Amino acid sequence: MTTEELKSLYLDFFGQKGHAVIPGASLIPENDPTVLFTTAGMHPLVPFLMGETHPAGKRLVNCQKCIRTGDIGEVGDATHLTFFEMLGNWSLGDYFKREAIGWSFEFLTDRRWLGFDSGQLHVTVFAGDDLAPPDEESAALWEELGIPGERIYYLDRSENWWGPAGATGPCGPDTEMFVDTGAPACGEGCRPGCGCGKYFEVWNDVFLSFNRLPDGTYAPLDRVCVDTGMGVERTVAMMNGYRSIYQVPVLDTLAGFVRKLCGAGDRPGPDALRSIRVVADHIRTSVQILGDDLGVPPSNLDQGYVLRRLIRVAIRHARKLGIDDPFTEAMARLAIETEKSSYPELQRNRERILTEIAREEEQFGKTLRAGLREYEKLLPGLLRNPARIIPGRIAFRLHDTYGFPVEFTVGLAAEHGLRVDMDGYQAAFDKHRELSRKGAERKFSGGLADHSAIVTRLHTATHLLHQALRMVLGEHVEQRGSNITHERLRFDFSHPEKLTEEQVREVEAIVNRVIDADLPVACEEMTAEEAGRRGAIGLFGDRYGDRVKVYTVGEFSCEICGGPHVTRTGELGRFRIVSEKSSSSGIRRIRAVLEAT
Ligand code: ALA
Repeated sequence: MTTEELKSLYLDFFGQKGHAVIPGASLIPENDPTVLFTTAGMHPLVPFLMGETHPAGKRLVNCQKCIRTGDIGEVGDATHLTFFEMLGNWSLGDYFKREAIGWSFEFLTDRRWLGFDSGQLHVTVFAGDDLAPPDEESAALWEELGIPGERIYYLDRSENWWGPAGATGPCGPDTEMFVDTGAPACGEGCRPGCGCGKYFEVWNDVFLSFNRLPDGTYAPLDRVCVDTGMGVERTVAMMNGYRSIYQVPVLDTLAGFVRKLCGAGDRPGPDALRSIRVVADHIRTSVQILGDDLGVPPSNLDQGYVLRRLIRVAIRHARKLGIDDPFTEAMARLAIETEKSSYPELQRNRERILTEIAREEEQFGKTLRAGLREYEKLLPGLLRNPARIIPGRIAFRLHDTYGFPVEFTVGLAAEHGLRVDMDGYQAAFDKHRELSRKGAERKFSGGLADHSAIVTRLHTATHLLHQALRMVLGEHVEQRGSNITHERLRFDFSHPEKLTEEQVREVEAIVNRVIDADLPVACEEMTAEEAGRRGAIGLFGDRYGDRVKVYTVGEFSCEICGGPHVTRTGELGRFRIVSEKSSSSGIRRIRAVLEAT
C-alpha cells in the first residue's frame, strides 16, 4: 500500500461517516506564537475545538503535514521522523468515545479498509490520576470489540494524555493503537510504548475534555471533542510489513540517494545506517519548510533557526559518510519530484527551495573553514598542554562563536593526539541552553488557545491593515503570511517595492480612522462562492472546504477568516507601523503594534 492509497482510503472512510474533508494547513502556524511548527492535525483547529463553529460542520477529516523536533535525537531509529503526515478525524462537540473507537477499530481491521488482523492490535488507555479518572469507558469499548483485557494497557499521564499542542489549550486522555510486528519482546516489561520496535503505534484517539490554562491548571471543557491522529508513514510501514519507517518509498528514495553518494551499498553498518537516515529525514523536512507557502529561509531565529540546524546536521552526517561535495540541491530536487503530487507548493516554491538550500550549504562550508582556521590558531597552545586535553569551554566557543560543530573539533583533535573535555563542553552547553530557555519561556508565554484580548485585537488590526494596503498600493496586494504575538502583528504581502514614508503614514492613518469610526465587526457563514461574489479577500479562501466564515468591518473590509475578532474597531487603540521591509523577493513585511490611547 502506498501513502497515497492510505490517505484516500482514510478520507473515503470518514467521508462515509459524515465527515467533511478539509484541506491541511500550513506547516508554519498562523497567529499562534506558542509553537514554531504545526505539530498535529488538531493544531490549526484549536479555535474550533474551543467552541468556535467551523464552517464545514461538526465532523471533519484531513491529512496534515506536521513537524516535530522534540524527538530529534531519535531520528534514524525505526520509527522517528521530524516531518511526517498525519491523518485525523474530529468531532466538534458531536460524537465521542463509542463512535471514535468503533470507527478506529473498523478502519483498522475490516477487510474493505486496512484489514489488520485484530489479534495484532494492542491498545493503551489512561490509567487515571488526581485530575481525571481511569478511562474504564474506553477499555470497555475495546473489550466489546473483542480486544481481550491482556492487550489493553492502562498507562499514566506521560503516555496516555495528549495536548495541549502549545502552552495552553484543549487536551485530554487518549487511547493509542499499536500493531505488534511479531518481533521478539525486548524483555519482560516489553509492551506498547516501550520503544524497542516490537510495537508500532499507528493511531491515537484523544478525548479532549479539558482546557489547560496559562497558570497551568485545567478547566473542564463545556463541550467535549474528539481529535485523532494516524501517522501515515508508520501505518504504511506496517501495512507493507516493513521493519522501519525508512523503507516507506519517499524515504527509501532519499536514503537510496545518500547510499549511492557515499557508496555504502545495501547493508551499511549501524552508524552509517543512522547517518543515512538522518540525512534523508532532515533534507526532506528542510525542503518542506522552504517549500511551504509561508516557508522561511534559514536564519538564526525561530523556524529559520530550526531549518538551519536541520540542514547543517544533515551536512555533518553526510561528511561522516565521506560525502564532501555539495549534495543538498540535487537531493532537494529529488525530494520535490517525489512529493510534489501530494504537495504542489513544493513545485510552486521550487526555485526558493533550491536556491536557499544550496546557499546554506555554501555558507556552512565557509563557517567550517573559519572554524578550522580558528582551531589552527589555537593548536600550538593546545599542543603545549601536557594533559593533551582541549578544555570544554574552548570546544564550546568554537561551536558557539564560529558555528563549528563539536564533532568536528573531536575529529580534528584526534588527528593531533588530543582529546576534547566533553563533560566540560556539555556543562558550557547546558549553561547556555538554560539561559536561552529562560529567554524563550518569557517570549512564548500565552497562546492562541487563550485568545487573549491583545491577540484578538491584533488579529482584527491585521484585517484593517490588509484592506488599507490594498487601498494605498493597489489590488495586487495579497496576504502571504501573518503571525501574531502578544506584542505585535506581522503581515507579509505581495508588493514589488519598498513603501515610501508617505505610503506607510497613509496606511496607518486609514487604519486609525477606521478605529476612530468604531465600526462593528460581524461574522457570517456562507459558501466560498458567495464570499467570492461579495468580494471577500483572503489568501486562504479554499481552506475550510465549501463553507467559509466571512468577517466584515462595517463597509470597510470583507475577509475570509476563522476569527477570532473584536466586536467593534473602537476596542483596538492606536495602530502604529514599526517597520516595513523586504521578506523575500516580491514580498514585503510589516510589523505593527496597538498602543493604548
Ligand atoms: N493530536 C493527537 C496526536 O497528535 C491525535 O497524537
